[in-house]
Amino acid sequence: MTSVADNQLEADGLPPITQQRRLVTEVPGPRSRQLAARKSAAVARGVGTMLPAYVVAASGGILLDADGNQLIDFGSGIAVTSVGHAAPRVVAGVSDQVQAFTHTCFMVTPYEGYVAVCEELNRLTPGSHEKKSALFNSGAEAVENAVKIARAFTGRSAVAVFDHGYHGRTNLTMALTAKAMPYKHGFGPFAPEVYRAPMSYPFREPAPIDGAQAAHRAIDILEKQVGASMLAAVVIEPIQGEGGFVVPAEGFLPTIARWCRAHGVMLVADEIQTGFGRTGAWFACEHEDVAPDLITTAKGIAGGLPLAAVTGRADVMDAAHVGGLGGTYGGNPVACAAALGAIATVEEENLLGRARHLGSLMLTRLTAMAERYPSIGDVRGRGAMVAAELVTPGTIEPDAALAAAVSATCHRNGLVTLTCGTYGNVLRFLPSLVMADDLVVEGLDILERAFAERSSTTHSCP
Ligand SMILES: Cc1ncc(COP(=O)(O)O)c(C=O)c1O
Repeated sequence: MTSVADNQLEADGLPPITQQRRLVTEVPGPRSRQLAARKSAAVARGVGTMLPAYVVAASGGILLDADGNQLIDFGSGIAVTSVGHAAPRVVAGVSDQVQAFTHTCFMVTPYEGYVAVCEELNRLTPGSHEKKSALFNSGAEAVENAVKIARAFTGRSAVAVFDHGYHGRTNLTMALTAKAMPYKHGFGPFAPEVYRAPMSYPFREPAPIDGAQAAHRAIDILEKQVGASMLAAVVIEPIQGEGGFVVPAEGFLPTIARWCRAHGVMLVADEIQTGFGRTGAWFACEHEDVAPDLITTAKGIAGGLPLAAVTGRADVMDAAHVGGLGGTYGGNPVACAAALGAIATVEEENLLGRARHLGSLMLTRLTAMAERYPSIGDVRGRGAMVAAELVTPGTIEPDAALAAAVSATCHRNGLVTLTCGTYGNVLRFLPSLVMADDLVVEGLDILERAFAERSSTTHSCP
């Protein structure tokens, strides 16, 4: 049966989308280049695009561009479409909801979908304690609200964050974010009472240090800079996303969590990038049995629709006064229907298991590539959140130019890859969890050819 989307493609002179890479023009092709020219004239310069292949349809792990090219998507819209593009349960839920109603504002006349999403979040997030949730539109908004709630509960104002951390682009979340360019440069002054501590970043430690030691190094600095009694919250990504897919040494997160608990500081796990099965567990905190006081979610929560949440201890969540939390669109009914479809997809298609499987497939292959290409200094990740950090061979000197060149070669060959990292030298891989193995392997083949083309194969002696 042909779908509405297929009919539209036919009208545009394009074939139906299939789960295969297919290049029929250079990437980006002529239609995309025309659109890019319109973009330059109409869209503010500050909104950049990484690969200007304009998408007309997407399904599973494939993007179809305006020129008829089918690209393998290792970015998932930055860790959003974990259940795949146009996931059937998401499409069905959204279609039904759009026809029923699109908006009332939950703060005015409520609807069941919002409550059902909060119930699911309370059920799925780590910890057996009583929980409550509140819904928002974007990750940054969720982080802002987690800080508001932590401040209301503790009566304190200071917030601690970590080197390399990323939490968004609003004023408070710019303050929480570490990297100046492009996120903060020229946009200050920033919100006060934010303190930054060193992260556990095993590849870049000057000397071996275990997770607990790295945590005590951070705690020591926070105690000196601000003091636990002033801190409302410690906000931490269990695995850093934009900062470079930094997986802290084992023991780092639990040690920080214990210190928070001992001092009444709210531990806020920012799982906006790591959540909803991406790392092979519902939430990355689970890998080390940490149950945070508050957890922020977005991205993978709703299969591509804008939705975000704060979930946490019921007593903490209820600290904000009635009317203190909310927003016109937060928990929009269409986004809630999408979230219920996405959650059902993860459960019914065992996507946690798929994430672990894809992770081991990618890590094995990337580790073998690192043997051949000494510019791959480190390979790391959990589940289907995997990265390769590129360096000058034999050193830990970041090689951002190589990361950009390898990524650009992948794009030309029909593989969407993303870079990240404080030094811009990390290639990150976030395929949808429904992507078939052969497509993932084909993507890795393209990546390997890009390395062969771009990097020196000579091992330098340490
Ligand atoms: C860990 C983390 N926190 C917060 C955000 C901000 O989310 P949003 O872009 O939806 O505001 C992001 C986005 O990349 C993120 O990765």
